[in-house]
Parts: sequence; C-alpha cells; structure tokens
Amino acid sequence: MNAISSAPAVQTVHVPLGERAYDILIGPGLIARAGAEIASRLKGRKAAVITDEHVAPLYLDALVASLDAAGIASAAVVLPAGEKTKSFEHLMTACDKVLEARVERNDCVIALGGGVIGDLSGFAAGIVRRGVRFVQVPTSLLAQVDSSVGGKTGINSRHGKNLIGVFHQPDLVLADTDVLNTLSEREFRAGYAEVAKYGLIDKPDFFAWLEANWKAVFAGGAARIAAIAASCQAKADVVVADERETGQRALLNLGHTFGHALEAATTYDSRRLVHGEGVSIGMVLAHEFSARMNLASPDDARRVERHLQAVGLPTRMSDIPGELPPAEVLMDAIAQDKKVKRGKLTFILTRGIGQSFVADDVPASEVISFLREKHP
Ligand SMILES: NC(=O)c1ccc[n+]([C@@H]2O[C@H](COP(=O)([O-])OP(=O)(O)OC[C@H]3O[C@@H](n4cnc5c(N)ncnc54)[C@H](O)[C@@H]3O)[C@@H](O)[C@H]2O)c1
Ligand SMILES: [Zn+2]
Repeated sequence: MNAISSAPAVQTVHVPLGERAYDILIGPGLIARAGAEIASRLKGRKAAVITDEHVAPLYLDALVASLDAAGIASAAVVLPAGEKTKSFEHLMTACDKVLEARVERNDCVIALGGGVIGDLSGFAAGIVRRGVRFVQVPTSLLAQVDSSVGGKTGINSRHGKNLIGVFHQPDLVLADTDVLNTLSEREFRAGYAEVAKYGLIDKPDFFAWLEANWKAVFAGGAARIAAIAASCQAKADVVVADERETGQRALLNLGHTFGHALEAATTYDSRRLVHGEGVSIGMVLAHEFSARMNLASPDDARRVERHLQAVGLPTRMSDIPGELPPAEVLMDAIAQDKKVKRGKLTFILTRGIGQSFVADDVPASEVISFLREKHP
C-alpha cells in the first residue's frame, strides 16, 4: 500500500429490493457529501432533518451546509435524546415539521442520529402524505450496522417496544464512520454486539475475523469500515430474502429473546442496561441454552463469551448492576415477547458458531429450568 494513501475509501453496499432498491454508503466524510449524494439520487430539493439534542450540536450544521451547497432547502427539528422519544407525541412534532417544511413526495425526510431518531423519522416519512422519500444518516454504531438498514420503522406503545410502525425502506443510507469518534465507548460496544451477531448467525469466518481484529475495529479506520460494511451486507442479504419477516429475517433476533426480557426486567433503564448489552448477554445465553438442548457444544458458548468479554461487554445476568427479578418474571417477559403456543416457544438457537436457526418448538419448561439454573 502507498505510504501517502489518505483516508480509507468509501464502500457501497447495494440492497436489491426491486423498485425499493437503495445504496448504503459507508466511510469517512459522508456528512460533507450528503447534499451531493442526495441531489444525484432524488428529484426533490426540499428536506426535513430530524435529529436529537446530542447529535444536533455535533453534526447538524455540517449536514445543513452540505444540503445548502447542493441546492436542497432544509428545515430541522431537534428532539430529546433517548428511547422515550419513540412516542406519539414526538412523532406528531416530527410530522408537523415535515409538513411545515413543505416536503412533498419526491422530497425527503433525513434522519440524523441513532436508532431512536431513525425509527421515528422513518415512521414519519412513511405516513406523511402516504409516504415521502427517506434518507438515513445513522450516527451510532448500532444504527449504522442494524437499524438504518431494512425498513422497519416505528415507535413504542405502553404495551411494548416497536409495536406501532410501518415498513418504509430508505432511499439512501449514509453511514459516516467519522461520527463514531464522538460516540461513548459504552454505546460503541453496545453496537458492536450486533456486529458480532452477524458472525454468530451464519458467518463463522467473520466471527473469527472479529476475534482477531476487534481492536482495530474499535480504533477506527479501514478495519472499522470493513466491519460495518460486512454487517450491512449481512443484514441486507437477510432483508432481501425476507423483507417483511415471514421467516428467515427472524434470525436477526439471535440473542434478542433473552435480551429483550432483560431490558424489560431492568425497566429500560439505560444506566443499568442498553439494548446491545442485553443482546450480548442474550447471545451467550442462546448458545448456552443450545448446548443444554444438546444442539451445540458448550465450547462454542465459552468462545462467544470470551470474545464479548474481551471487548468489554457484559455476558452474564450477574453483570447487570442491581437486583434482577426472579426467573419466573423473566420467563413471563419472554412469553409476552414471543407468544407461547401450546407450551412451545419460537427461539433462535444454534448448532455452533455461525450456525443459527429458527426453532419454533422450544418447550417453555426447558427455558424456565435453564433460567432457574442461570439465575437461582
Ligand atoms: N429498525 C430496526 O430495524 C431496528 C433495529 C435495531 C434497533 N432499533 C432501534 O434502535 C434504537 C437504539 O438505537 P441506538 O442504540 O442508536 O440508540 P439512540 O438513538 O438512543 O442513540 C444512543 C445514544 O447515542 C447518542 N448518539 C448517537 N450518535 C452519536 C454520535 N455520533 N456522537 C455522540 N452521541 C451520539 C444519542 O443521542 C443517544 O444518546 C432502539 O429504539 C431500537 O428499538 C431498530
Ligand atoms: Zn438488536
């Protein structure tokens, strides 16, 4: 390689969904290029930018300047940061702003932020004028590798997370990897759990690559871009095969059944547990449970745990600060998340690293005994 080679190149992952096909661009400097990239793909010249109060002071001016330079007029709305923003109240504020900005069907809504802003903005874009164009500028690692790709949008209800929403694919995703430098270590690690997840679902070589290269991924540069691009490609493959989750897309929930139960058990208190941390513990539990069901070797569970521990993620229920409710209460949360059909649950289980599968006949009684063992 040339000694004076400059910033690593931008990578493109194409999501071939017919008339809903789009590109994901991954690399440095993409916020500065956003105006030009959008103008070359979309006809409209108006945009409503939706962001949160942490991200706005860091990146909103740069994004607006880039839109201006490309002749795209924009209006911005800054919402509070955090999961509680995925509510009807903030959705209404966002929709009002989009209409106020006179965004028409060929114009776009731009989500500048993490998964919370992406989910809420995508929903607004999906319902205002029965759907306007939508551009994701994900700023958290989790949003870059997961939530900005695939078209699931929505808000929370008092009945549970993500229960109200629509499928609305973005027209473009711009994952500017420079912005991850201002993300907290803890949020970066949480997003990394989803990166590791793609290896554990069906890419054992990618998991092995992460075991060897995770330090470089955390440090930034080419390895980080490669890991994000591989993750987006993995998610895109699953989404293209099953856009509306009638089957294989459920594999993306590896670790999430246990993880969601732990998030509910800690009342979504981010001081105790954030989503990716729940997924980390959940993935170890999914591997241990698979071993207990004689589907996989316990060595694989240990290997998964070793890697997640090495990057600094929690891997056990006892790693969560504070008291957890008893196993029975965790089981109730799982049953609510999953719908128990005649004592059987649908779970993502595994035959080993990178060999996950959808099991729809897991006896609830096995899950509860496992939880009692793990959390006596
Ligand atoms: N639609 C999907 O397919 C999908 C998939 C996975 C998760 N999600 C959703 O994503 C949400 C979680 O996303 P998240 O983890 O990005 O949470 P988030 O949006 O709350 O972001 C985490 C925190 O980081 C801050 N932040 C974001 N980017 C930053 C940056 N570059 N510098 C400094 N601070 C920054 C945010 O303001 C926030 O405080 C959940 O609501 C979850 O349901 C959706
Ligand atoms: Zn997740």
